Amino acid sequence: MSDLLVRLYNLPCMKEHDGLQVRKPLPHQSPAVLSFIEDNFSSGWKAEAAAAFGSVPPTIVIAVDKASGRLAGFCCWDCTAKGFLGPIGVHDEFRGKSVGRAIVLSALYSMREAGYGYAIVGDAGPVEFFQKICDARVIEGSTPGIY
Ligand SMILES: CC(C)(COP(=O)(O)OP(=O)(O)OC[C@H]1O[C@@H](n2cnc3c(N)ncnc32)[C@H](O)[C@@H]1OP(=O)(O)O)[C@@H](O)C(=O)NCCC(=O)NCCS
Repeated sequence: MSDLLVRLYNLPCMKEHDGLQVRKPLPHQSPAVLSFIEDNFSSGWKAEAAAAFGSVPPTIVIAVDKASGRLAGFCCWDCTAKGFLGPIGVHDEFRGKSVGRAIVLSALYSMREAGYGYAIVGDAGPVEFFQKICDARVIEGSTPGIY
């Protein structure tokens, strides 16, 4: 798998998602968020996301389903390396409902506000997803990357 480059000066407009609250969690919420990541994704992603809670505010956004109050997804940045976006995950019950788009764009706008010009999606799995939502480009020669 390759890394992807996202131009933060050329992001699409972000529309509010009717059914979701997208926000940065507070530090005291880290146990619940990290358990969600471990239970639904992997212990490796939990370890990467733990690094997000080392910053104030944390370098992670979460999506909370307004109707049920459940955690639907998360997106981190500056965890594996500075300027890297990820890990990213949407609970399988909430996939296909624009949760991924909402959290990734929110995280990318936060990176732009923090002063980055570009974001790198490390070792991207669903390349077409990132191409679709933020016009990401494959970085030649990025296989194997830093992982
Ligand atoms: C990839 C993932 C985050 C997408 O989340 P999602 O909430 O289902 O995505 P969205 O509903 O916001 O999809 C936005 C658009 O991308 C498309 N899309 C979603 N997943 C896709 C995929 N795997 N490949 C290609 N396109 C995809 C959708 O069809 C949608 O297109 P549309 O606007 O034309 O309808 C989710 O499937 C997931 O958590 N996967 C497992 C973890 C993972 O692979 N994370 C990324 C690691 S780099």
